[in-house]
Amino acid sequence: MVRSNRMRNVTYDIRGPIAAEAGRMEAQGIPIIKLNTGNPAAFGFAPPANFPDILRENRQLNAAYSDSKGLLPVREAIAAYENGIGIPGADVERVFTGNGVSELISLSMQALLNEGDEVLIPSPDYPLWTAAVRLFAGKAVHYICDERADWNPDLGAMRKLITPRTKAIVVISPNNPTGAVYPDEILQGICDIAREHNLLLLSDEIYDRVLMDGETHTPLASLAPDCPVITYNGLSKSHQLCGYRCGWMVVSGQTSEMDDYLEGLNVLASMRLCSNVPAQAVIPAALADPHYARSHLEPGGRLYRQREIAYTGVCSIPGLSAVKPRAAMYMFPKMDIKKLRIEDDEKFVLDFLREKHVLLTHGRGYHWEAPDHFRLVYLPEPEVIADVMERLGDFLETYRQF
Ligand SMILES: Cc1ncc(COP(=O)(O)O)c(C=O)c1O
Repeated sequence: MVRSNRMRNVTYDIRGPIAAEAGRMEAQGIPIIKLNTGNPAAFGFAPPANFPDILRENRQLNAAYSDSKGLLPVREAIAAYENGIGIPGADVERVFTGNGVSELISLSMQALLNEGDEVLIPSPDYPLWTAAVRLFAGKAVHYICDERADWNPDLGAMRKLITPRTKAIVVISPNNPTGAVYPDEILQGICDIAREHNLLLLSDEIYDRVLMDGETHTPLASLAPDCPVITYNGLSKSHQLCGYRCGWMVVSGQTSEMDDYLEGLNVLASMRLCSNVPAQAVIPAALADPHYARSHLEPGGRLYRQREIAYTGVCSIPGLSAVKPRAAMYMFPKMDIKKLRIEDDEKFVLDFLREKHVLLTHGRGYHWEAPDHFRLVYLPEPEVIADVMERLGDFLETYRQF
């Protein structure tokens, strides 16, 4: 059997062939430091202690299907929370819960795209966005984020990519893989472009509560009450609950002309019956404490310290540099590939895994065109990160591809 033609161009390298090789090495008894996924609980970050009680209390209800969009009190809590942070008109009828934001990305692309419709996506991206657009016959068009401008999108370049087939712009802020938080002027600029060309804004805000250095986050929808916007969020990162598969999306702004699309979303949500109900059950409690685990992000906190060690470690290795991430749990270091004599970032990541037993992901896996970046997850304990930095420095001292 072969996969369908529409999957030919669909990849997700964070869990791709190199991660599979790491799995084979582990099966042979080789311990691997896996820095490929942003999975906080796997590194000891604890989920809220009262959640098992909530699950026990709702045992009977949790065993039943819910409304396709989600339990009503849960959607009420989400709508109230999103309204409270400035998303205009967030309403229970336009809130959809999902098995993680991941499922909702697919669902919203599936309902939106006809063959050849174009969606603007950042480069580098969180690759699920590109994969979902391609899977549903759309064309992913990447707009450059500029490393020399703190990884902010280049709005001039974005504007030039718009064609009569463009339907939507994806915005990921705070960003994976760069850790950038876009300032309001940039977000405003993106809204202006969407307004001018009548485009749907798709705003992935899953890291909006994982901020450092006094950063604040402005929901994109709050700047565009006159535009159709879908805001995506969930508990995987803020409450360290990746395994629950708990996400939601809110359709807001100018929705008067979206009835048919909203009906399409309803049909797709109904076809998957409902999202995981136990995961929905913890959402109201989580949103009552949206800044759970904030202490990790403050100076001296665990994630903060790990970021410092990772950043100074990368910057001290000859041939590497990085923009300091201010949010999320990732860094996207640049390799001076001429000096390091590297021509293939994927081969570099594979060779590093085989020799030093650390799993990174290569920059082209994030739809970054040049083979000169990789992504590092800084979730392990400080001493593990320090060890990884030592292994990386040793490796690059002698590694050459040409
Ligand atoms: C930017 C971004 N969006 C969405 C997701 C998916 O999150 P979820 O666990 O809610 O499916 C991730 C996961 O890493 C992510 O980094």
